[in-house]
Amino acid sequence: MKKIVFVSLLVFVMTAVYAQKSNETALQGMSAGETLKSPDGRMEAKFYLRDGVPQYELKRDGKPVVLASRMGFTLEWRKSDLASNFRMARVDTASFDEVWQPVWGEEANIRNHYNELAVTLVQDFYLDHEGKRVDKPTVMVVRFRLYDDGLGLRYEFPSDISTLHFSSKYNSLVTFWLTDELTEFRLPGDPMAWWIPGDYDTQEFNYTQSRLSQVRELHDNPHISGGWPWKSFSDTGLQTALQMKTDDGLYVNIHEAAVLDFPTMNLDLTYNEEVSKLKVHLTPDATGYVGRLTSPCYSPWRTVQVCEKATDVLRSRLILNLNEPCALEDVSWIHPVKYMGVWWEMISDHSTWGYTNDFPSVRLPGDPSLPPSLHEAITDYSKAKPHGRHGANNANVRRYIDFASKHGFDALLIEGWNIGWEDWYGKDKDYVFDFLTPYPDFDLPALNRYAHEKGIRLIMHHESSSSVTNYERFMERAYNLMNQYGYDAVKSGYVGHIVPHGEHHYSQPIINHYHRAIVEAAKHHIMVNAHEAVRPTGLCRTWPNMIGNESAMGTEFRGRINPGHTTILPFTRLQGGPMDYTPGIFETDMEKNAPWNRDLMRHTICNQLGLYVTFYSPLQMAADFPEHYEPYMDAFQFIKDVAVDWDTSIYLYAEPGDYIVTARKPKISSLNKAADGVGELSDGKKGIISNAARYVYAIPDSVQPVDLSTCRPKDVWYIGGVTDENAREFSVRLDFLKPGVKYEATIYADAKAASGYVSDVTIGWDAAQKEGYNPQAYTITQKTVTSKTVLKLKMAPCGGFAVSIRER
Ligand code: NOJ
Ligand code: CA
Repeated sequence: MKKIVFVSLLVFVMTAVYAQKSNETALQGMSAGETLKSPDGRMEAKFYLRDGVPQYELKRDGKPVVLASRMGFTLEWRKSDLASNFRMARVDTASFDEVWQPVWGEEANIRNHYNELAVTLVQDFYLDHEGKRVDKPTVMVVRFRLYDDGLGLRYEFPSDISTLHFSSKYNSLVTFWLTDELTEFRLPGDPMAWWIPGDYDTQEFNYTQSRLSQVRELHDNPHISGGWPWKSFSDTGLQTALQMKTDDGLYVNIHEAAVLDFPTMNLDLTYNEEVSKLKVHLTPDATGYVGRLTSPCYSPWRTVQVCEKATDVLRSRLILNLNEPCALEDVSWIHPVKYMGVWWEMISDHSTWGYTNDFPSVRLPGDPSLPPSLHEAITDYSKAKPHGRHGANNANVRRYIDFASKHGFDALLIEGWNIGWEDWYGKDKDYVFDFLTPYPDFDLPALNRYAHEKGIRLIMHHESSSSVTNYERFMERAYNLMNQYGYDAVKSGYVGHIVPHGEHHYSQPIINHYHRAIVEAAKHHIMVNAHEAVRPTGLCRTWPNMIGNESAMGTEFRGRINPGHTTILPFTRLQGGPMDYTPGIFETDMEKNAPWNRDLMRHTICNQLGLYVTFYSPLQMAADFPEHYEPYMDAFQFIKDVAVDWDTSIYLYAEPGDYIVTARKPKISSLNKAADGVGELSDGKKGIISNAARYVYAIPDSVQPVDLSTCRPKDVWYIGGVTDENAREFSVRLDFLKPGVKYEATIYADAKAASGYVSDVTIGWDAAQKEGYNPQAYTITQKTVTSKTVLKLKMAPCGGFAVSIRER
């Protein structure tokens, strides 16, 4: 279904004389303005000029959501700005309605239905940097798309303006530099907000729930437990997606969509009793500019999502819809991934990324900055004495491959495989890795062969250490190496200060780098999961090889993660795209991983199981060690059985910071795509199936190999629930099951005595138990259910549940 209707086109007469007059009229006050309604008629956006200054408003059911708010920019090399002295030259409206199919996602079909208003604004002259009047037209289009669940607005800068019939065929905006964006969101009152502090470099923070008026006093708290490096710009700065709830119970969420060739937007808050004003604050580049643009071009979409129910926020596809359709012609190589990793052992200090203690500093071969006289100083790993704690060694990697293969996973990530880790961290080094040379105890060709023979893909790891300069230097060679050995996914990383120095993780040049990496990877048929890169803004619709990002506080923060964190992320971080949260930690006592590591993690095993359903990602990890799953194989069964790509998702209960309960039905067409891909490799095992496919098709472990084309999938659903530090109980009606059909449900629930809560995560296992900390207590129950069944499901403090339901 695709329907575009151009409703009206209004072109004003545009002689120079008229233009001047029109400007004078505008200067006398407010223009009548243009009104846009959402398809259901409940949302209303208004755009007008007040004394030549562009402004907009947003209402739902006649009540203001965004009060009159400014729009525009200030520019370098001009005394006049892009925020005043405008007149309206042309107004276009349109309606759009289509259903599109994402390559992967929370549902097989997404409806994109909006009404649109585009207003062409003109300044007939501008003042140059000396204040001299230049009689050349400056044209900026403001485009609004209004959905039933929110608004998108963006700025467009055409180059060719010949249709406007000025004496000049071209916009005076050719190459222009932004010094500030003036867009505001003025909200009535003092809404509740779930926020992280504004920043230029990281989103790895715990969320704070508070009224906006309390932001200033609470602003710095998240820095104590958060990521490094952080760069704050104001004590009232906030990041997006910013989820808020008004006193009328509306869920209002401000974010942005399709950030390309533009810096990331933060918000800066000013508050008085009646109005909370959130002004856009763009991340500057190393020279202080917030955007270097060349027309034709446009800004990202600034979005205001408005929902009546919290579950509608999770259902909203506003951000994805505002991105462009898929840019890749062939997407057959893109597939969902359930994976394990030689990873948590390094994160929890059980083993290390590095190989030796011999080198206080590393000078890698090939560094062009090394003078010939220093060539002798080049680090030679073949002569190094291994310290014996290197995680990515052949034997250990084989052990993980065996386990992942035995339990029907698709892939295995291995970090610390490449030379350079001895001094990678916090040194702001340029030539830090080569992404090509393995450590002496990592046999790259042999391990890939071994993995493929067992039906597993290896996931490549490229920690750039934020040396973007260096990653760009090696990217092409690194992707070629991946192609040579059959890797089809890379996890990249951006820990530390950005090189080139002075740039930020969110500044325009670095946004362009992340994007270049995605586009280059696509050329090599490589899927990308970038950690510490900017938080996503729906670009995965256009480039679906971007299967994941971290870009928020993930499991690696262990005990520092606040209870309830994972009930907030789907409202905020996940609005822009999936997160590689890396769930599945069954051993919550980090002292068991490394004796000097005191962290206890605040969750139960069933909470971790619930996340595979409440937390959407086409890339899901079972992050713990194989030996930590062995004692709990009955609970691990859920991780084996659960799918990662969905036909349908139903958001049953949700409140940010409190709980989420979600039901999902797997998408059959992608269930075995990863395994099929391995089968196509010359050294790959043929006819294997993932364990999720095995569950959906009800094929016993003993049947190998399997030709799925001869089997019928069963009707299957998974339900997941997670809660914060409060125990909760939910009644889940299974009315989404097919009527009259009997299903077998397996219910994984926190035991009565279970609790993932501890007041202080450093008190140690014994003291925690005295407080009732009991994270590994669960029950597993089988039950016959139908569409009439109502399941009563309980969650312990910091707990959760998971249910798999299969047609009998
Ligand atoms: C931070 C990433 O989030 C983590 O997953 C990775 O293991 C380390 N950087 C090292 O690259
Ligand atoms: Ca990280």
